[in-house]
Amino acid sequence: MSRSEELFERGKTVLPGGVNSPVRAFRAVGGTPFFVARAAGARLTDVDGGTYLDYVCSWGALILGHAHPVVLDAIRGAAAAGWSYGAPCESEVELAEAVRRRMPAVEMVRFVNSGTEATMAAVRVARAATKRNVLLKFAGCYHGHADGFLVKAGSGVATLGLPDSPGVPAALAELTVTVAFNDAGGVEDLFRRRGAEVAAVIVEPYVGNAGFIAPDAGFHETLRALCDRHGALLIFDEVMTGFRVAAGGAQERLRVRPDLTTLGKIVGGGMPVGAYGGRADLMRLVAPEGPVYQAGTLSGNPVAMAAGLATLRETERPGFYETLGRRTARLVAGIGDAAHRHGVPVTTGHAGSMWGQRAYRCRHRLHHHTTRRGAGRSARSLALSRSPGPVGGRNHRRSLPGLSRSCASGSLPARPASRWEAMASCSSPTTRMASPSDRSRPVRPGRS
Ligand SMILES: Cc1ncc(COP(=O)(O)O)c(C=O)c1O
Repeated sequence: MSRSEELFERGKTVLPGGVNSPVRAFRAVGGTPFFVARAAGARLTDVDGGTYLDYVCSWGALILGHAHPVVLDAIRGAAAAGWSYGAPCESEVELAEAVRRRMPAVEMVRFVNSGTEATMAAVRVARAATKRNVLLKFAGCYHGHADGFLVKAGSGVATLGLPDSPGVPAALAELTVTVAFNDAGGVEDLFRRRGAEVAAVIVEPYVGNAGFIAPDAGFHETLRALCDRHGALLIFDEVMTGFRVAAGGAQERLRVRPDLTTLGKIVGGGMPVGAYGGRADLMRLVAPEGPVYQAGTLSGNPVAMAAGLATLRETERPGFYETLGRRTARLVAGIGDAAHRHGVPVTTGHAGSMWGQRAYRCRHRLHHHTTRRGAGRSARSLALSRSPGPVGGRNHRRSLPGLSRSCASGSLPARPASRWEAMASCSSPTTRMASPSDRSRPVRPGRS
């Protein structure tokens, strides 16, 4: 028994599923999760000495890779001055200013400890400001694990094939209404019927939690216009896209100004940080300036703020996002070509350094592999897999000319017909590429 297997067995007796976040248990991809001993740059090393090229990088939090020396120095420096004060400190103000510089729509910001906390609080502000209760979200989008978000959610909820979670009171779930992402007509229809009840539309501006799906041209402009027309607020959940798809996040790339923005992952440089912010008149509703209560013992933690600041400063180096975007394009093309060579139909897409892929198999040829389990296993070698979700939008275009070799029916359409079954999708928010020296080092194959 490997050390990872031993730890997993022990873990299962004291932690639900042996883990502290569901997808880490590898249920969708099979096998035993590896337990990490250490990580540096683009590499993870497990407790058995195996090394992995990490395309996940803490699910997008580590845009600079693991243990980046500048961030490490900032963390060491901050920790040496004490790591929790329960009182304000300078780095909170500095990080807030840095966020506002990069995202001008975030006129004021409140730091919290996770993306979930950020989205929960943003919705509370929106409900207080509009005096309405209904939240419109998109099927497959994930906004954290708070009650109102688990209706038709993506990420681990979809990976594990869970229905809307038990434990969420029906009365609360009824306040969340869903529409398909990119279905502008569906949103319009919903507003026509229930516009006076809708407090906010919350959206992952580029979907990363149902595979990667880019928005159709004009989709977010339509959301903006409908929110304005009906007096609802537009919340961009940039927990994944923030400081990733562009220096100023999706709102910069799409040139759409949301009322409220939620952040996580990169803003804390890999430490437990989330943030919500937006129009000053809305943020002034938050206690102590206003009546909307939200608080946190560890919020604005000095070590976490230092990690976030150091990370943002590194990404402000000239050419950072251009280089990252170019490397992502190369990586995505390489994965597509490799899949092609092996006769695996795959479509890929990316925005800046956020990318995803979806692999398919032909039902005609592989009808004996139709269980979810089989599907996950077939795809395991491609990447840490997320669930087969809805097939993406127009960005899923990189079809493979050699498909006719694996299925008699020819090339893969943008939206595959029913004979094509999505066997796995993976969206990775990270693209830190191995340096030439990284690439020359051996990697244990087939485990990541
Ligand atoms: C878009 C989005 N929103 C919210 C969250 C929740 O963030 P956290 O896991 O930090 O609570 C996530 C997590 O992956 C996310 O991708």
